[in-house]
Amino acid sequence: MNRHPRIAPSLLSADFAHLGDEVEAVIEAGADLIHFDVMDNHYVPNLSVGPMVCEAIRPHCMRDGLPVPIDVHLMARPVDALIPLFAQAGASIISFHPEASEHVHRTVRLIRSLGVKAGLVLNPATPLHWLDHVLDELDLVLLMSVNPGFGGQTFIDGVLPKIESVRRRIDASGRDVWLEVDGGINAGNACRAVDAGADTLVAGSAVFGNKDYRAAIAAIRDAAPLRLARQA
Ligand code: DX5
Ligand code: ZN
Repeated sequence: MNRHPRIAPSLLSADFAHLGDEVEAVIEAGADLIHFDVMDNHYVPNLSVGPMVCEAIRPHCMRDGLPVPIDVHLMARPVDALIPLFAQAGASIISFHPEASEHVHRTVRLIRSLGVKAGLVLNPATPLHWLDHVLDELDLVLLMSVNPGFGGQTFIDGVLPKIESVRRRIDASGRDVWLEVDGGINAGNACRAVDAGADTLVAGSAVFGNKDYRAAIAAIRDAAPLRLARQA
């Protein structure tokens, strides 16, 4: 396992007029995943990008001839019709919010049936009971540390105990489920998120708001070494 958390730069804060170049630049700078935020002006008040843009960046998501995973975060309702489109467009992971699906278990199965990793996203006020009967079929839990819809918001400290709870549940499950945290992450608070149990950190403004992407990614990653217990 990595000694440091995976870093997933969020393209929401990238220069959309040069998206392919931005993707290549953050991969060159050390990004482990490319976080792709999909907003529908319905589940969240903002509107962003869809499967055509995911497909357009796919050829740019390469390092040393190997694909860098695209981590699609659906902030859209309903979700099921979008899932085959993003699978076709090259998503490696698709995460959705339980409130946005009529049948959460069916949506998880749909994602995995297409050969894509499935994630469930919980907002700051969304209770953990959504995990009770699907954790065994998830590849990733994504905990929001801001309310979804916008980049550049402030990390909500109240999410830290929630990260600890989910870490305990994942460890008890014995399965390799990633625990990703999204929203307001920077080099100053990454350590607290990782200490609480996160192994994957999304960072939008903290990466793209810095002229030196390599330094920005390194600052977040190096601020937050994973605890030894989780490196076994
Ligand atoms: C918020 C998005 C996040 C956001 C992160 O709704 O899901 O991925 O882009 O951006 P920062 O790191 O700036 O909070
Ligand atoms: Zn996101």
